[in-house]
Amino acid sequence: MDRIVKTLTWKKDELEILDQTLLPLEEKYITIKTIEEVWEAIRGLNIRGAPAIGIASAFGLVLAAKTYKGKNKDKFFSIIDDNISYMKTARPTAYNLFYGLARLKKVADDNYSKNIPEIQNIMEKETVKMFDEDIKNCINIGEYGNTLIKDNMRILSHCNAGALATTGFGTALSVFYSAKDHGKKFEVFVDETRPVLQGARLTTWELKKAGILHTLICDSTAAFLMQKEKIDMVIVGADRICSNGDTANKIGTYNLAVISAYHKIPLYIAAPLSTFDFSLKSGDQIPIEERPKEEVLEIGCIRITPQDIEAYNPAFDVTPAKLIKGFITEKGIFSPKKISGIKYEF
Ligand code: MRU
Repeated sequence: MDRIVKTLTWKKDELEILDQTLLPLEEKYITIKTIEEVWEAIRGLNIRGAPAIGIASAFGLVLAAKTYKGKNKDKFFSIIDDNISYMKTARPTAYNLFYGLARLKKVADDNYSKNIPEIQNIMEKETVKMFDEDIKNCINIGEYGNTLIKDNMRILSHCNAGALATTGFGTALSVFYSAKDHGKKFEVFVDETRPVLQGARLTTWELKKAGILHTLICDSTAAFLMQKEKIDMVIVGADRICSNGDTANKIGTYNLAVISAYHKIPLYIAAPLSTFDFSLKSGDQIPIEERPKEEVLEIGCIRITPQDIEAYNPAFDVTPAKLIKGFITEKGIFSPKKISGIKYEF
């Protein structure tokens, strides 16, 4: 299966990205050559979505590690550590960013005895491996998720948990791509996802490309549709999942979870295991990113509010595990109670 879109492409000493801030109006690729540019692209949402952020940040670290041409190993390892600390400040919530960097740090440490060009090479190979794993994980998430989809279902999704958010087919959207491949007939309702409109701009763009029946709704329309019995299931992605199943995802996911529970509609989280932060016991420990108020005060850089007013813009919220029916992962579908039994290490 061909990738729907080349969100990230590693070209040996540079990373090519599709600039997601311009979609759907313009499909423009940018070449990135330094860790600072990767940082800016992540912070600026040119690259976004938890798995894509994780892999891009690892490539950023590879770019930084490769700038060192000397032979002093202490110096080289301190460059790695400094750049990991720097990269971690790009965005705080998506666990994949921390996972990707930790994985590269581990391979570097495990190969300390090798010479520096070899370690640089190993770090690059590990990142390419993560890239390929993400493609496979997306396919497996799609296949497991497909088992939940019945003909004529109407499924609601929020934000963009698609190919644009991963190196493969996405997480929540991979379920739809897989169901379509299996010949199922269904409809997707897409929340526009204020304030940055990932649903309106990105998910519709992807689903249209893939020929999947979909309808865009305002975020505030979801409860009305549920009340009219027009939604059978909700599937969304995740930025960080704690060991008790509490899940951070795009702001508005918690609203959906509350109204889904009220209407007895199952809500599933589709995510790879690299989004699970088993070190956190519960959702109140997840750092929630607060983004510039201009994202709320403006739409597409056009001011829609009076001057000199305040706005509050948390980018994510936390859905308690008790409102989640299950987690669709590359290893199968787990209820929140079964998460602690998942074995995952790198
Ligand atoms: O701010 P964003 O666009 O990076 O937020 C993305 C989301 O919340 C996604 O649902 C999540 O990262 C999962 S992507 C497979």
